[in-house]
Amino acid sequence: MRTPIIAGNWKMNNTASEGVALVEALKPLVCDANCEVVVCVPAIDIPAVSAAIEGSNIALGAQNVHFAKSGAYTGEISASMLREYGVKYVIIGHSERRQYFGETDETVNKRTLAAIEAGLVPIVCIGESLEERETGKTEEVLSRQIETGFRGIDDLSGIVIAYEPIWAIGTGKTATAQQANETIAFIRKKCAELFCPKCAEQVRIQYGGSMNAKNARELMAMPEIDGGLIGGASLKAADFSSIVHFDRPDMASMKLPKELL
Ligand code: 13P
Repeated sequence: MRTPIIAGNWKMNNTASEGVALVEALKPLVCDANCEVVVCVPAIDIPAVSAAIEGSNIALGAQNVHFAKSGAYTGEISASMLREYGVKYVIIGHSERRQYFGETDETVNKRTLAAIEAGLVPIVCIGESLEERETGKTEEVLSRQIETGFRGIDDLSGIVIAYEPIWAIGTGKTATAQQANETIAFIRKKCAELFCPKCAEQVRIQYGGSMNAKNARELMAMPEIDGGLIGGASLKAADFSSIVHFDRPDMASMKLPKELL
């Protein structure tokens, strides 16, 4: 059985003090979660958020990592720097990084291998654009992203895959549960071909793209979907906690303090 993993991607939101306030609100709400709970925070928030979540069931993630161990890479952050603050997960190849910061399947691959080597768990993002979906290229695009992005990985169970259709990110337009399930099934099939059927069975694949408190239950009920990578809805403790409690909707609202309802 694959343990579900619900991860918030704060993107470029929350200063360190705002981030601490958010996780302080979140801690009592998610302490009895039946899934893994992760917050992927801006790099500069890491020290403060790391201290704030100590002893809780919330794990810490970063939003990027450089592939070199150290050196002349102004503005970049290495895996060992993240490890020192107890970071466990790192998002790699988010479509916003591919679109705005020149990330390619090759750099995704280098970052992924470096993260694994340093003991981090990469959350590798793949997904097609609207045009690619509408012209029937979804499988071709995902295949290319997987073939190049995952090259040289020995053990697929050491990574998490996030399927994020670009057209569903921040648009309020979610893939239907069936669409997401079908596409994730394709990703798993591709992993079985490139790695092994057992590895493909074990690897956790999240859905990302306008997942929220309302649609999380339906998406998470699909057999291929093992979690969510959540942007906007991870910025409010009440919303994120409702997603974390996708399996017990009554629990989520019961625990909320009045001011959050
Ligand atoms: P939204 O949930 O805001 O659509 O963002 C999804 C995402 O990009 C998570 O990485």
